[in-house]
Amino acid sequence: MRILLYSGKGGVGKTSLAAATGVQCAKLGYRTLVMSVDPAHSLADCFDFTSDGLFHSRTADPLNVFAKLDIHEVNIQREIKRHWQEISTYITSVLRTSGLNEVEAEEMAIFPGMEELSAMMYVNQYRRENRYDVVVLDCAPTAESLRFVSMPTTLDWYMRHVFPLQRGILKAVRPIANKISPVELPPDSYFSNIRRLYERIEGIDELMEDPRTTSVRLVTNAEKMVVRETQRAFVYFSLHGLTVDRIIVNRVLPDSVQDGFFQQWRESQQVLLTEIENYFAPSPVVQVPLFPHEILGLKRLEQLAGLLYPGDADPAAVERTERPYEFVKQPDFYEVRIRMPFAEKGEIGLFKKGDELVVEIGAFRRHIGLPTSMASLLPVRARLENRMLVVEMKEAA
Ligand SMILES: Nc1ncnc2c1ncn2[C@@H]1O[C@H](COP(=O)(O)OP(=O)(O)OP(=O)(O)O)[C@@H](O)[C@H]1O
Ligand SMILES: [Mg+2]
Repeated sequence: MRILLYSGKGGVGKTSLAAATGVQCAKLGYRTLVMSVDPAHSLADCFDFTSDGLFHSRTADPLNVFAKLDIHEVNIQREIKRHWQEISTYITSVLRTSGLNEVEAEEMAIFPGMEELSAMMYVNQYRRENRYDVVVLDCAPTAESLRFVSMPTTLDWYMRHVFPLQRGILKAVRPIANKISPVELPPDSYFSNIRRLYERIEGIDELMEDPRTTSVRLVTNAEKMVVRETQRAFVYFSLHGLTVDRIIVNRVLPDSVQDGFFQQWRESQQVLLTEIENYFAPSPVVQVPLFPHEILGLKRLEQLAGLLYPGDADPAAVERTERPYEFVKQPDFYEVRIRMPFAEKGEIGLFKKGDELVVEIGAFRRHIGLPTSMASLLPVRARLENRMLVVEMKEAA
């Protein structure tokens, strides 16, 4: 199964491009699902399903659009009922003790990340069932999609380090603590719910870090502010072990627009287009022109797909397989090499925690699990070399 993840700043065209990609994949014969992970769904809208009211729920499960194309908008209320019952019941009960009414408490019990986790469970399930050949993920603007990709490692860390401890301690102290604690402590069913959820996403991190399965496509516009966010996203995805295999610059002014009003826009776009090519090389950069209309309905999505994939190119083809980071053995030390094209020396923090190397860049942090042979080593030196962060690791003296 291939997973194609579309991410980028708000409003750049992620949903349109993800949908057009889905259309193209289905046309090529792949069993395709386009899944929206953005709580502010607009996937169904871009197929122009208008007959169904503003807040329909037909897409809360995969809905067939044509031949081999399904779309799915993850509906968090529905997911809570399906998968999060014990967790949500407990959190709701705690929030109610703080004075919220039932409906407010239920609203508050939807916490950040639930949508993303639910989407991951589906991706994992579809892979286990071999239900689709291609899953196109239409993500929320960058910040949330970063949460999406960091979720499995964070959760994995929690499950290994905190979960057994918490569950064990609570089992022991619950009978007494519940008498004195102002809020009821989570029952064991809360923990078994967490474990069940965890089992449902287990393995997804390997899937996302495998460039033969998952490719990230960053959507941007030829505007400075948007490009800067795209660069940060590139670093972050690389840090999380995902492979960005394409940058799509959307809404490029076509040559046919000669109106003087757009002169400055055209010039600044040209400058930025060259910069974008240089920044992201060797990742390929694809341009999509500004259309004279919104991209609404199947016909226009097909038109967009035609431009994105000329000559019926295959969006699911694996084009880049170089891993964002790798471990290398040198004669008397080991190296961790992380692709980090935009980072600067002063911004990078490194330390060791248990058997993990922790890399910090600005507000981002990643725990990189070290292979057993390197687990006892310490980082001694780091350098930036050819767009790579090279960390030397040695035995503690
Ligand atoms: N190349 C283009 N030419 C003209 N209109 C476009 C183009 N690309 C996208 N649009 C239009 O821009 C609007 C926003 O696009 P879209 O919803 O795909 O962006 P998004 O990145 O998914 O936004 P959000 O961050 O809100 O999810 C839509 O109305 C879409 O039809
Ligand atoms: Mg969108």
